[in-house]
Amino acid sequence: MKKCLNDRIFKIISQVADEEKVQVYVIGGFVRDIILNRPSKDIDVVAIGSGIAVAKKVAAKLGPKVKVNVFKNFGTAMIHTGDYEVEFVGARKESYRRESRNPIVEDGTLEDDQNRRDFTINALALSLNKETYGDLLDSFGGVNDIENKILRTPLDPDTTFSDDPLRMFRAVRFASQLKFKIEEETYKSIQRNKERIHILSRERIIDEVNKILLSERPSVGLKILENTGLFNEFFPEIAMLKGVDSVKGKVHKDNFYHTLEVVDNVRKNSDNLWLLWAALLHDIAKPKTKRFVKVIGWTFHGHEFYGAKMIPGIFTRLKMPLNDKMKYVQKLVQLHLRPIVLSQEIVTDSAVRRLLFDAGDEIDDLMILCEADITSKNEKTVKKHLNNFKIVREKLVEIEEKDALRNFQPPISGELIMETFNLSPCRIIGDIKNAIKDAILEGEIRNEYNEAYAYMLVKGKELGLELKK
Ligand code: CTP
Repeated sequence: MKKCLNDRIFKIISQVADEEKVQVYVIGGFVRDIILNRPSKDIDVVAIGSGIAVAKKVAAKLGPKVKVNVFKNFGTAMIHTGDYEVEFVGARKESYRRESRNPIVEDGTLEDDQNRRDFTINALALSLNKETYGDLLDSFGGVNDIENKILRTPLDPDTTFSDDPLRMFRAVRFASQLKFKIEEETYKSIQRNKERIHILSRERIIDEVNKILLSERPSVGLKILENTGLFNEFFPEIAMLKGVDSVKGKVHKDNFYHTLEVVDNVRKNSDNLWLLWAALLHDIAKPKTKRFVKVIGWTFHGHEFYGAKMIPGIFTRLKMPLNDKMKYVQKLVQLHLRPIVLSQEIVTDSAVRRLLFDAGDEIDDLMILCEADITSKNEKTVKKHLNNFKIVREKLVEIEEKDALRNFQPPISGELIMETFNLSPCRIIGDIKNAIKDAILEGEIRNEYNEAYAYMLVKGKELGLELKK
């Protein structure tokens, strides 16, 4: 372990620790990540005494430019040095009240400090004092759990989770990020304590869900959120996707597991968090729109429109941003069937132009989502769809080069129409603008001024309009 503490910052903390005669340790995620070989730049330092005092002395030794940010209320201090963010805190003992995540904090020993942590793998400490430099203090078998890829709480899980219910989400997140298993008693405890999450802020829950979505295979974490009952507590719409119905032997696919596959497929091709949200939500209205129609079988008619309508309500409730990110997700959910419908028929230029016009800059992400949505187990079907998508993609490039529809700006303005036909503002102007746009999308005219101007004159004549004298 010593060789992992070679950087100057550790040597300086060590000097201060000995000069001040306090025991000082690196603790938590940084130590875990050394063992996992995942380099990390966030260092948590615990002093058996005042963390703030140690931080101030360390900063002084690092040089006059290094600032200490002290958070007196929390008893912590931060130093930024090189690539490292170092947080200093005094070892503490925490006790919790049932209704709050905020603990009552007292000074404590290293063991108290390790006890108050979420998982054994996050309770490892490395000594920084000279005599014991690099010694690992592993009171709960954290190294063993890392080797066996196990997430387990240091204390009784009911205590650890009830104290801070965010840890249930952290367990799921670490399981998804690190591909670790949640130990059985710890898992059962999440199922028992799931209702405790209501004391958490939605923002903190969503931070963890975002990390799950960005992990290599998000389905690992999403499945645990469902199986532990956590989804049902904070996001029942997702839980409702699960299950199949059967009428006269006809079953539909399980929309929850299908959604997981789509999210995983998107993740293979993108690390855009909002595209991953679109994947998670693309079929969100399927339970609401599910019908059994005698001749056809199961249908989810209009689920893309209802789904798009549900997005603002979901984002508001989960305290997610109500800005262009939400609009982006909404747009993708609404359009997610368009390329597939298109590719089932002969791919006409005008259909591709309309898709390009409606999707705009989101067209590439929409194509990633739609390709991810093909989860059929029938190889022939998959091949056919992917091949058609290839044609759609080729046509998209070709048409965009020719007609530049991605960021469509009407080639003829309303002012010019008014001026040409001597009109005051009225509905006819919008009608002519729409007719020009439709003619471009149908391929009757090119997306450029001269052809659009000529078309405007023809349209005006048809409508009986006189040219301005
Ligand atoms: N911790 C905890 N309970 C929490 C949050 C954090 O016990 N709800 C402890 C863990 O010991 C953790 C340490 O505080 O290792 C630092 O927390 P943080 O920086 O949030 O997480 P890391 O474990 O470092 O992991 P990541 O940076 O991936 O979030």
